[in-house]
Amino acid sequence: MHIGTPLSTTATRVMLLGAGELGKEVIIALQRLGVEVIAVDRYENAPGHQVAHRACTINMADPVELRELIEKERPHLLVPEIEAIATDTLAELEAEGLTRIIPVARATQLTMNREGIRRLAAEELGLSTSQYRFANSLEELQAAADEIGYPCIIKPVMSSSGKGQSTARDAKGIPACWKYAASGGRVDQGRVIVEQMIDFDYEITLLTVRAIGMDGNIETTFCEPIGHIQQKGDYVESWQPQAMSDTAISKAQDIARKVTANLGGQGLFGVELFIKGDEVYFSEVSPRPHDTGMVTMTTQWQNEFELHARAILGLPVDTSLRSAGASAVIYGQHDARGIAFEDVDKALQVPQTEVRLFGKPEAFLRRRMGVALSYGEDTDECRQRAKQAASLVKPVILPESRGDALNWCG
Ligand SMILES: Nc1ncnc2c1ncn2[C@@H]1O[C@H](COP(=O)(O)OP(=O)(O)OP(=O)(O)O)[C@@H](O)[C@H]1O
Ligand SMILES: [Mg+2]
Repeated sequence: MHIGTPLSTTATRVMLLGAGELGKEVIIALQRLGVEVIAVDRYENAPGHQVAHRACTINMADPVELRELIEKERPHLLVPEIEAIATDTLAELEAEGLTRIIPVARATQLTMNREGIRRLAAEELGLSTSQYRFANSLEELQAAADEIGYPCIIKPVMSSSGKGQSTARDAKGIPACWKYAASGGRVDQGRVIVEQMIDFDYEITLLTVRAIGMDGNIETTFCEPIGHIQQKGDYVESWQPQAMSDTAISKAQDIARKVTANLGGQGLFGVELFIKGDEVYFSEVSPRPHDTGMVTMTTQWQNEFELHARAILGLPVDTSLRSAGASAVIYGQHDARGIAFEDVDKALQVPQTEVRLFGKPEAFLRRRMGVALSYGEDTDECRQRAKQAASLVKPVILPESRGDALNWCG
């Protein structure tokens, strides 16, 4: 294994498909190891664009644009950060031996569609999941929901971050759910999954790493479980470690090991699980760093982005915890370009906290613009501190002139 010199003929080139806040941290980890990084996103000045050697703006769901860029840049590794990619093109490129897809093209294909990963987990691997059915029309959905029972959750098969996802309390609610799913899917396929609502005690992300071990073979290791709270399909806070019974943690690890072994390749995966008592239900898996795992920037010796970077490069990893901690999301609170963040100083006066601002060029009311992190002895105290710090950061719209008048150079 070797790493070359960036921007020379010996460079080790990695291309990130998706350059949001998670991609940005993977890029920083790769840059620290002397890797040449090309960041790709659908809009200019994405967070990862700002820290990469080269920044490209294309529609990654377009097979022609995607192939053209990859043939031009010739990355050694191709690292998807999002789901909405022309994954069949990734499979072709892999088959042609043009580049290596992380973790493997099949994993990106299976996880971009809820049906692929759910059928694999439940029907092939026999893992326990919520009950589910698929439906292509309102009539099919109505029948499927009646079978599953109420309340149930309806999701477009192709969507993420809770888009198009809603809960039906009874049969009367189904038409609204169907309509909402059709509006929120990534590609309006008109296909949905209806899932039994699991009344879980808590949910976790189990970060699972497949990396080359001492003996040269792929080894699977786990981070401490991350607890989190979701609102409207987006995570609002997370903490690590989440306390679990021995039975639940060993079931969780068993599920994560089986799913990631089947998907294969090298890299970090975010395995999403629901826990009720000692019962563990598989929900879904990201074959890449997970948003709830941002907490590891303050809790682990090697955060999830560093673990991903190391694993894909064939380097050894250490998933151990350094301290407990928590993360809380900072939202845009405005629909505007070029907003500013007031009172970052006040937020950082909360003991044992850090703030990350992603540098997104445009804010939306509920867009994640940053995250507050806290570390300490006790997750409850960390959660309080992270939330307090996040709430102290004030997104504001500056008058045009004040932006110019800010004189940081003295
Ligand atoms: N069957 C279920 N039972 C109970 N809660 C559920 C169920 N499915 C989803 N949820 C809740 O909704 C959240 C989002 O669901 P899911 O992960 O399937 O959506 P997503 O759009 O892929 O979200 P993301 O991309 O943010 O992971 C879950 O983390 C969980 O809190
Ligand atoms: Mg999810």
